[in-house]
Amino acid sequence: MATDRPVAVIGAGTMGAGIAHVAAQAGHPVRLFDAVDGAVARGIDGVAAQLDGRVAKGKLDAAARDAILNRLQPAASLADLGDASLVIEAIVEDVSVKQQVFGELEGLCGADTVLATNTSSLSVTAIAAGLARPQNLVGMHFFNPAPVLKLVEIVSGLATDPAVADTVFATAEAWGKVPVHVRNTPGFIVNRVARPFYAETLNLLEQQAADVATLDALMRECGGFRMGPCQLMDLIGQDVNARVTATVFHAFHGDARYRPSLVQRELVDAGRLGRKSGLGFYDYGENAGTPFPQSADPRPAPESVTITTSGGEQGLLAPLAERLRTAGVTIALIDGDGEAVEVAGATLLLSDGRLATERAVTEGLDNLVVFDLALDYGSASRIALAAADTTADISRAAAAAVFQAAGLAVSWLDDAPGLVVLRTAAMLANEGANAVHEGIADARGVDNAMQFGVNYPIGPLAWADWLGPAFVLRVLHHLQAAHGDDRYRPSLRLRRLAACGGHFHEGTERH
Ligand code: NAI
Repeated sequence: MATDRPVAVIGAGTMGAGIAHVAAQAGHPVRLFDAVDGAVARGIDGVAAQLDGRVAKGKLDAAARDAILNRLQPAASLADLGDASLVIEAIVEDVSVKQQVFGELEGLCGADTVLATNTSSLSVTAIAAGLARPQNLVGMHFFNPAPVLKLVEIVSGLATDPAVADTVFATAEAWGKVPVHVRNTPGFIVNRVARPFYAETLNLLEQQAADVATLDALMRECGGFRMGPCQLMDLIGQDVNARVTATVFHAFHGDARYRPSLVQRELVDAGRLGRKSGLGFYDYGENAGTPFPQSADPRPAPESVTITTSGGEQGLLAPLAERLRTAGVTIALIDGDGEAVEVAGATLLLSDGRLATERAVTEGLDNLVVFDLALDYGSASRIALAAADTTADISRAAAAAVFQAAGLAVSWLDDAPGLVVLRTAAMLANEGANAVHEGIADARGVDNAMQFGVNYPIGPLAWADWLGPAFVLRVLHHLQAAHGDDRYRPSLRLRRLAACGGHFHEGTERH
């Protein structure tokens, strides 16, 4: 869409002001309208304050700031938006109000005007129903704060003209965003695929496998996520996060994959909503202070360790071997099947989603300790371990000493299947695989959405490729068997790739 074409934004709140900012910055004349007196002025003042901040930091010159603000004009009524080529709605999240506004716009705008909704939870198909030109309506879902976060989900409802979706996609790209095509579905990509990020940690809390600070620390320091799930739920608001989960759960007719958590409901019932109420998983009030994650006492380093990793020097555990070598430990690195560490008195295996205790008995291992998946064993600073109930204390200590010698803090978990990062990564990949299977998005779209919408360190499907779809499938089978829960049922897409040795992306497989 040419930058001289006017863009209209309806609703000058958090999102509308941010979207108007983005469009004006890209060079479009922008008309901003809001039903409430003073809201547009507040919105424009907010944009001005942000631009001033960037001028003060030397990131924007004053002339550019003035030009952006000059392009941002208040509109007194919907009738003033008639010449816009693209109208983006960011008003109250209510399907009938949105339908009414779009219905009015159809009478005011040209037949070619693209109508876009920034809804985050309503059906684009439902909003378009009843319009004279439903083919012109598309979802344009920005993330908060819109000027900062790059992802825009371009959502096609049942009637959306593909050419309209393509135009909006190209426009978002020209605005410096990372657009992703999405077929209309509850939660679109991000709010659907991200559910296990919260749910797996909530489930571990329900099992009392570890405390809040330890689980968060593991997801950050071992999984490479910027924030732990509990921290992030506190930031989003427990009530808001619980509502999104409930919306997706009900929209999928109670599918176990999206089942809400009783742990979170307790917090909501207690009014412990997170940062905004001063108390959530963490305390933000008078007793604020970050609780320490649980870390095992340091043990003397082992003299020698045998590491088996599939791929040898290119294997998943090769960076761990390197860290141990640097620390003066004698290492034998074997290119073998699976990921294992042998140290005097203990066998350490990468979790495969089974209970350590069941795996020890099945495989006849006297002193088994399982360890968690790390995003990168070369840079992780913490790892979760779980011992089988039959494992001797001295073997537990020997297992902890291996990771400590490599410079990682060790957090012991109760014997939880799939520990923390592995089960979360497997479930994120499973959700992504389902989205691909159902034609919601392609694999690149899923990964871009999670990396650019919620800052994941790696796309869940690239992660699955790297681990191998067959391994991820095995983990899910084991989680499903261990919990007896349909929640973990593997995606057909994952099963197919695992069966034929395929990958979600070409060229991202590890071996
Ligand atoms: P907000 O409450 O900050 O702003 C909404 C604005 O719309 C208000 O200024 C209100 O006066 C105005 N408004 C309400 N009804 C109107 C009408 N009929 N005509 C004109 N103006 C009207 O809300 P926010 O957070 O900006 O959300 C707006 C939309 O964006 C919602 O659909 C929401 O689901 C979606 N969204 C919100 C995100 C967020 O993080 N806040 C992220 C992505 C999407």
